Amino acid sequence: MPTQELLYVSDRPSTTTDEQVVDGIVMPSMRKNRELGITGCLWFGKTRFVQILEGEREAIDDLYAKIERDDRHHDVRLIHYGPIESRAFDRWSMRLIKGDERDTVESIIAEYAVGHADTEDSSEPVGAAVFTSIRRKLRALADVSPFPIAGH
Ligand SMILES: Cc1cc2nc3c(=O)[nH]c(=O)nc-3n(C[C@H](O)[C@H](O)[C@H](O)COP(=O)(O)O)c2cc1C
Repeated sequence: MPTQELLYVSDRPSTTTDEQVVDGIVMPSMRKNRELGITGCLWFGKTRFVQILEGEREAIDDLYAKIERDDRHHDVRLIHYGPIESRAFDRWSMRLIKGDERDTVESIIAEYAVGHADTEDSSEPVGAAVFTSIRRKLRALADVSPFPIAGH
């Protein structure tokens, strides 16, 4: 069974504090993901979350179903789901990346949305290329993320 990779984007309510994200979402998720053999990252900007999950299909599907229903974020949009040869985030059960205005993650997502709207039926090449650049960007940010979380 090949390992799967899932990437989604969602809207973060402006009322949530960073502490609520870290203590309420990230800490328990790191523990649970480790138990489930899931690796990945969570990028959080002022108004958005971007998450990559890597793992066995069943574990990913069960978790994503829960995440979609979680009312701590809204409008969860699946951007990519497919098999991978090797994990990009194998060192982290959930690497937390705090987004800032120097990131290009937001602009890459905006570009993805435009590409999708333009090519309703043949969006795959656009989607795949943009997805690859989001993953590359998140992987680079994961390496330099200063988030000081024990066991991270
Ligand atoms: C942005 C966001 C990302 C999340 N990521 C994860 C995750 O990677 N792993 C996880 O177990 N739960 C994650 N959750 C929490 C799940 O939605 C859910 O609350 C959690 O899995 C607890 O499920 P349970 O009540 O069945 O134990 C996330 C929630 C949000 C809002």
